[in-house]
Amino acid sequence: MTPIIQAMSRVELQQAVEEARRAWQTAEASVEDEASLEALRIRFLGKKGVVTALMTRLRDLSPEERAEAGRMLNALKTEVTEGLEARRAALMETASRDREAKERYDFTLPGTWRPIGRLHPLTRVRLEIEDVFQRLGFVVATGPEAESDYYNFEALNMPADHPARDEWDSFYLGEGRLLRTHTSPVQIRVMRSQQPPVRIICPGKCYRRDNPDATHSPVFYQVELLWVEQGLTLANLKWVISEFVSSFFGPEYEMRFAADYFPFTEPSAQVHIRKVGREAPARHLGGWLEIMGAGMVDPAVLAGVGYDPEEVTGFAFGLGVERMAMLRWGIEDIRSFYENHPRFLAQF
Ligand code: DAH
Repeated sequence: MTPIIQAMSRVELQQAVEEARRAWQTAEASVEDEASLEALRIRFLGKKGVVTALMTRLRDLSPEERAEAGRMLNALKTEVTEGLEARRAALMETASRDREAKERYDFTLPGTWRPIGRLHPLTRVRLEIEDVFQRLGFVVATGPEAESDYYNFEALNMPADHPARDEWDSFYLGEGRLLRTHTSPVQIRVMRSQQPPVRIICPGKCYRRDNPDATHSPVFYQVELLWVEQGLTLANLKWVISEFVSSFFGPEYEMRFAADYFPFTEPSAQVHIRKVGREAPARHLGGWLEIMGAGMVDPAVLAGVGYDPEEVTGFAFGLGVERMAMLRWGIEDIRSFYENHPRFLAQF
């Protein structure tokens, strides 16, 4: 476009307006993005823009001419303003359509399956057992898996030549050390470190020299319980266990004690449970299932840790975590817990 510098006649201004309009129409068609749109706005409507410059020429005309030329110029200004507006709207429309297309979800597609981990059934059972006894006021205690002969046997009333040791055959580490075969050594460790009353449960891993089969595993879990205080009797033991049976298995289970032998308790018992009113065809014991070994702590064990057996009495039990889980869910092979097949684990 020719720069407008000198005074203009009406006809000249009219021609300049027409020329500006054509220039605008050509330029308008080539707008592609925000930047070119803004450049166009500045070129036509900016302070030094084409339309603005023509406006200043109105003063060259007579008042009559000026009115008509002013209308013409205003019409051009409106055309440009509205055109810019329309272009801007069109650009925004395209941008939002692009965005939508990119973000659109196809709700008919199958979702992404994200497998969520969960607690191992043995962990679940252990936590649940801890919970039952913590509510009864017992505190969780732990001890080492690599134990000394003293804690695993000796202090539990099993001297070196005691035949009962055969039942708890271990993996021996040398120099009097072995992998603990039960959680009972934790009883001794705790009693040696504090005075009565003692109310503890001890969950943990145990090891035995057993060949794996449906009911044996060389590594397994136990939970031990120990309560030592003045005046405790077998009746207290029975109450604690019955609380556990009804919390863990449900109120529809009954329990009984059957005589047993453990070197560290006197008297000793096996605890059996059975679903009330359940007919018991195939299973031995007439439907009764053994869930734990228990008893009154042998006075020799109490004396061995420095307690006075005339002053305090105590009771204890030890249960197998796997066995609890097997009874709860009807699992028949203990090895299922360690094979870690996702399809087995996903059931719990
Ligand atoms: N420690 C025994 C075992 O592993 C279980 C047991 C029996 C623990 C009687 C006790 C108890 O505390 O009093 O077979």
